[in-house]
Amino acid sequence: MARYSNDFECGPFLIRLNIYQKDFKEQRIMKYEKEINRRKSFAIISHPDAGKTTLTEKLLLFGGAIQTAGAVKSNKIKKHATSDFMEIERQRGISVATSVMSFEYKGNLINLLDTPGHKDFAEDTYRTLTAVDSVILVIDSVNGVEPQTRRLMEVCSMRATPVIVFINKMDRDGKNRFDLLEEIEAELKISLHPMTWPINSGKEFKGVYNLHDKSLRLFTASTKADDEDVVAIGDLSSPVLQQKVGDRDADLLREDVELIDGVYGALNPADYLSGKIAPVFFGSAVNNFGVQEMLDTFIQIAPTPRDRDTNVRKVQAGEDKFSGFIFKIHANLDPKHRDRIAFMRVCSGKFERNKYYKHVRLDKEVRFTNPYTFLARSKDIVEDAYPGDVVGLFDTGNFKIGDTLTEGEKFYFTGIPTFSPEIFKELVNKDPMKTKQLEKGIQQLTDEGVAQLFTQFGGNKKIIGCVGDLQFEVIQYRLLQEYGAACEFRTLPFYKACWLTSNDKNKLNDFLRYKQQNAAEDKDGSPVYLAQSEWFLNTEITNNPDITFHFTNEVNK
Ligand code: G4P
Repeated sequence: MARYSNDFECGPFLIRLNIYQKDFKEQRIMKYEKEINRRKSFAIISHPDAGKTTLTEKLLLFGGAIQTAGAVKSNKIKKHATSDFMEIERQRGISVATSVMSFEYKGNLINLLDTPGHKDFAEDTYRTLTAVDSVILVIDSVNGVEPQTRRLMEVCSMRATPVIVFINKMDRDGKNRFDLLEEIEAELKISLHPMTWPINSGKEFKGVYNLHDKSLRLFTASTKADDEDVVAIGDLSSPVLQQKVGDRDADLLREDVELIDGVYGALNPADYLSGKIAPVFFGSAVNNFGVQEMLDTFIQIAPTPRDRDTNVRKVQAGEDKFSGFIFKIHANLDPKHRDRIAFMRVCSGKFERNKYYKHVRLDKEVRFTNPYTFLARSKDIVEDAYPGDVVGLFDTGNFKIGDTLTEGEKFYFTGIPTFSPEIFKELVNKDPMKTKQLEKGIQQLTDEGVAQLFTQFGGNKKIIGCVGDLQFEVIQYRLLQEYGAACEFRTLPFYKACWLTSNDKNKLNDFLRYKQQNAAEDKDGSPVYLAQSEWFLNTEITNNPDITFHFTNEVNK
C-alpha cells in the first residue's frame, strides 16, 4: 500500500487516512509535492496565562530551534504596562522576532505562527488564524473555557480549522476531567475525542494513559524533563498498571477508559481534518509532560498546506504557479523609517526572491530583493518558499491586509474576516496644519489592521473602532511619532458595528438616512450600522427584515 507522509501509524488509522489522502492527492497537480507534504503550518491559541508561551517553548526545544528553556519571551503585554509606550514598543519588537518560528521535527518542516497574548490585539490573532492550516488550543485545566478561548474558537469554527486541544496544568488541582470535557464541548460547540486520559490531577497527578497505543506515561515534575517514563501496558488488566499507579487509581482508570471507549469510539481523522472533532491531550507544559506525545500525533494527523478559496476559483496548494496573501503588517520600530514588514502566506507554487509578481489590487508588478523567513528567532533572507511558508516582505506602504500576489492571474483570497470593534471613538485633529499627515497616517495604520476606520454617513466625522483601549494609545503615539500628527479621541456611545446588505437598495438608503446618527461607511465604502446597545440592534434587526445585519465583514468581497 502506498505510504504518504500523513499516514497515522496507529492501528486502524493507517487505512482510514490513506483513503482520505488518496482522494485528496488525485485532485492535485503536485509539482512541489515533496516540499508541500512535509510542511505543517499552525498556531497555538489560548486565553492569556493558559500556557501558550510555555508550550511554544517546549515545542521549539523538541524541534532543536532553541537550546535552553526560557529562551522564548512571552509577547504578552503585562497588565500593568497599558500606558507605557516604551513597553508597547519593546513588545512590538519581540512580537516581530517571534512572529513565525520554523523548525524541523522528524522530517517535517513546522511553521508555528505566533499570536499576541493580549486581548486588545485579538484582531491580529484572528487574522493570523487565516494563514494557518490547523491550531493547537491550550486550555487551563483549573480555569476551563475562558472568554478569549470562546472567541478564538468561533473564528476556527467559521473556517472549519482542524483543532487539537491540549489541557494544560494537570499538575494543579483542576476541574473533574469529564466535567471539563463537557464544558469545552458545550461552550466551544465542538466534539472532543480524548487521545490520552489523565490519572488524577494536582498533587495526585500520576500521568496519562494513551488510549491508542495503550501505554502509560508516568508523571515526574521537572521543568527540564526531556524524557518521559513510558510503560507499555497492552491490556488494562495487566498487573503492571497496579504496580505503577496503585490499586485505587488502576481501578479508576479502567472504569474511565471503559466509559470513554463507549462514548467516543475510534477517532476518524477525516472528522478532525474537517474541523468537526478535536483530539484532546492532557499534560503539563511547564513540566514538559504530554507535549512530545501531542507533537508526535500532530505531525501525523495535522493537515499539510490546504487548498484555498478565492473570489474566482479554488487554488490548489500543488499548482505550479505561485500565489499568496498578506495577513499581517508590522510597522518598523524606527519611527524615522516608515517601512513595514508585510507577512505573506504562500498558498500555491513556489515563491522566488527577485522575481516579478502581480499585486492584484494595485494591478502592478512587484518584486522583492530581500524577502525574509523566520528560522527560530533569527531572520534570514530566503531564496524561495513553498505553500504553508510565511515570508516577510519589506513594504513602503503598498500593502494592506488581504492583498493577493500572483504570477499574473487576477483573484483575491477570500475568508479573511473583519470583526466588529468593541470600542468606538471619534478621531479629533488637534493640529489643523497637519490634516494631510493625519489623513495619511490613519489610512496607513488602518491598512495595517491596527484599527478600523469608519466615516459617519453624510458627514466626515472619522470614527475609529478598536478591540481594546491599548490600541488607541498605540495609534495616538504612532500618529505623532511617525506622521507628526497630534490627535485626541472622543468616546462614542457605540458597542458594535454591523455591516449592512439588502436586495432593496432604496430600503437600505432610507434606513441609512433615517439612522444617520448611527450610520457610517467603512474604508471600502460599505454601509455600517453602529449600535448603542444590544437592545437597539435587535430592535433594528426586527424592524428591518429587508436588510441583513452582518457581524463580520470579508476583507476581499
Ligand atoms: P500564556 O503564554 O498563555 O499567557 O501563558 P504562559 O506560558 O506565560 O504561562 C502562564 C503561567 O502558567 C506561567 O507562570 C507558567 O509558568 C505557568 N504554567 C504553564 N504551564 C504550566 C503547567 O503545566 N503547570 C503549572 N502549574 N503552571 C504552568 P508565571 O508564574 O506567570 O510565569 P513564570 O514566572 O513561570 O514565567
